[in-house]
Amino acid sequence: IPVDPFDLVIFGGTGDLARRKILPGLFRRFCAGQMPEEARIIGAARSDMDDAAYRKLIADAIKEFGNGFTFEAATLNAFLERIGYVAVDATGTDGWAELAGRMRDGTVRAFYFSVGPSLFGDLAERLHTHGLATDQSRIVVEKPFGRDLQSARALNATLAEHFREDQIYRIDHYLGKETVQNLMAVRFGNVLFEPLWNAQYVDHIQITVAETVGVGGRGGYYDKSGAMRDMVQNHLMQLLCLIAMEPPSKFEPDEVRDEKLKVIRALEPIEPHHIVRGQYSAGGDQPSYRDHAENPRSNTESFIALRAHISNWRWAGTPFYLRTGKRLKARTSEIAVVFKDAPHSIFGVDAGRHRNVLAIRLQPNEGMTLDVTIKEPGPGGMRLIDVPLDMTFADALGDEAEEVTDAYERLIMDVIRGNQTLFMRGDEVEAAWAWTDPLIEGWKQRGDVPKPYDPGTAGPDDSMMLMHRDGRRWRELKT
Ligand code: BG6
Repeated sequence: IPVDPFDLVIFGGTGDLARRKILPGLFRRFCAGQMPEEARIIGAARSDMDDAAYRKLIADAIKEFGNGFTFEAATLNAFLERIGYVAVDATGTDGWAELAGRMRDGTVRAFYFSVGPSLFGDLAERLHTHGLATDQSRIVVEKPFGRDLQSARALNATLAEHFREDQIYRIDHYLGKETVQNLMAVRFGNVLFEPLWNAQYVDHIQITVAETVGVGGRGGYYDKSGAMRDMVQNHLMQLLCLIAMEPPSKFEPDEVRDEKLKVIRALEPIEPHHIVRGQYSAGGDQPSYRDHAENPRSNTESFIALRAHISNWRWAGTPFYLRTGKRLKARTSEIAVVFKDAPHSIFGVDAGRHRNVLAIRLQPNEGMTLDVTIKEPGPGGMRLIDVPLDMTFADALGDEAEEVTDAYERLIMDVIRGNQTLFMRGDEVEAAWAWTDPLIEGWKQRGDVPKPYDPGTAGPDDSMMLMHRDGRRWRELKT
């Protein structure tokens, strides 16, 4: 889908996200021929520098964070010509007139707030007082969108003073991942799955987002948030919504978001014994979480596993097990829909237990597998085995799969196209906090201490117990 000419201003243009994700992503879109001739990108931040210095910074970032993406030097130069820089004081008046002078009439205007939420209000206000915001311009805001319901409400109210909801794009980059969208294609593009997609046929669902990295240099931020705020309230919640929601009547922003909101609102409060919090210990030559966080007494969790229930007709009685953590055994994210046993086994008890499992792999090796039960080949009688029907996108789609776009580049292009389907609406974010707030508050009141776990494992043993108690087990963490 073509993209209109645009002016994109990135506040926080010298920051980590801009250098690692936003600009390399835009460059890839440029290389793919998706950026119109008249597109302009302006970095804005506090530091004093000219266009040339900023272009150099961005060129270096593209080389460093390009993930092996190859390109001609001339292509990079052509991209850099579209990039400029203005030093702006987000809380003062400096630089705003110059920035306003760089805006062109008749193009899409988007302002990316790649800064801490404490600056959202200042930026939104100045965009108006200095005449940069038009009726059609869009703003993009990053997580964390608040740290609880109250702060999220306050942020929504601040943004609403200056922009309509249809101008606000709240990013959750998990929604931009290829397989996450594929999940909707699989559910709603096939007749095969949807009739079985309910408590009658689904035993349980597992959602895993496992990382091998620790919190590293982000200890300061992370220690105030923890896995619940950093991952569960947003990324895992969005995955849960897409897997559990009713079919929207159209693939349109509000139709999709209305259905997601219903899922969040139908989540039951969680009993404390259905949540396991963990914190990684030191291992090998790697420091512990507390060393990373530079807080020897920190009780922030770097791992969380929980059992959630959705109170509605479709899912009554089907548990959703969610887990995420840092410094685990493998970097792997997947959603597994584990179906129930066949109602009666004509092959007798010796045939063992066999289950259909639909596993949707988000990363790495994007793809899906469906475990089906078949007869073990050979003359040895009716012995059953489970084999995966494997659809690894890279194998099935060849070159097209290599084109898999990074989540950020897809989402930024959606902003320019004016498509909010893959962005969170204000009420969704608030509903998600309304569910997580009491859980976090409960830990505080009880003085809950996370269980230590060794790096390179699947998290604390209690997380296994969470499943074992229910006669189930987590799928193995493997890449
Ligand atoms: C971010 C979290 O939103 O998502 C990080 O703040 C986490 O802590 C990251 O590492 C994971 O994203 P991805 O795309 O690498 O799975």
